[in-house]
Amino acid sequence: MEPMIKKCLFPVAGYGTRFLPATKAMPKEILPIVDKPLVQYAVEEAAEAGLTDIGFVTGRAKRAIEDHFDISYELEHQIAGTGKEQALEGIRSLIETCTFSYTRQMHMRGLGDAILKGETIVGDEPFGVVLADDLCIGEEQGVLAQMVGLYRQYRCSIVAIEEVPADQTHSYGVIDGEQISDRLVRVTNMVEKPAPQDAPSNLAIIGRYVLTPDIFDIIRETPPGRNGEVQITDALLQQAKSGCVMAYKFKGRRFDCGSVSGFVEATNYYYDKIRAKQ
Ligand code: UTP
Repeated sequence: MEPMIKKCLFPVAGYGTRFLPATKAMPKEILPIVDKPLVQYAVEEAAEAGLTDIGFVTGRAKRAIEDHFDISYELEHQIAGTGKEQALEGIRSLIETCTFSYTRQMHMRGLGDAILKGETIVGDEPFGVVLADDLCIGEEQGVLAQMVGLYRQYRCSIVAIEEVPADQTHSYGVIDGEQISDRLVRVTNMVEKPAPQDAPSNLAIIGRYVLTPDIFDIIRETPPGRNGEVQITDALLQQAKSGCVMAYKFKGRRFDCGSVSGFVEATNYYYDKIRAKQ
């Protein structure tokens, strides 16, 4: 059966200021966890979920992402027939399974605006959104695959959530709603980066979404919100009011690799995993 969702957007236009000077000339999504760039982990997760039409919303200084998902002839020639070819197996198979499209966000006007720029790639279909700096390790299956399964059931937008300590709500979009089951909440409220006293709950949205395409019209109507940016949470709240948005407590673990401490934790986690295999 043809999967219902095939497209996945990767908004990667942000400046990654928390990682300066590393991100001065290099995209933060190319930073490696051990030996693999963050963006490759993210595309692997999408491909595992059956989302093989990959669309990047990119910006200046992000060319390395395009090059990563292409063939490097000189390199291939250099290592052909040696044991080093093995290191390229993962990326080679991704390049064979997926298609890659690119569009640019000229002005960093927020995640909502970045997603709207992806409309030209997505068209009128439900789609996934992955923020590659959130590195997710799913239990049994990847987090996006879990969400695609839920989409089949509910046919509405789904955001992944995680419980965070009260003193961290100011870094996230925070939801509130009606508990449907153990892991599922029907969203009724959403606040972007609230102070602890203003947070409606401790359930924070992380960088995985399945969105229905009516979100594009809603984003177009969404005025800039917090920090003068067009916030996807504002658009999602609107969608929740007129239709349905589900929040899903995913099975697995997430590392916030957009922060130095999360990045180091993820590095230690993967390094330990690799060492345990040796
Ligand atoms: P972040 O809030 O992590 O911002 O954006 P950032 O610029 O990447 O990093 P810092 O905070 O300066 O260190 C969340 C995601 O949304 C994308 C970013 O690329 C990142 O994946 N984004 C954000 C855009 O594509 N465009 C925007 O205008 C804003």
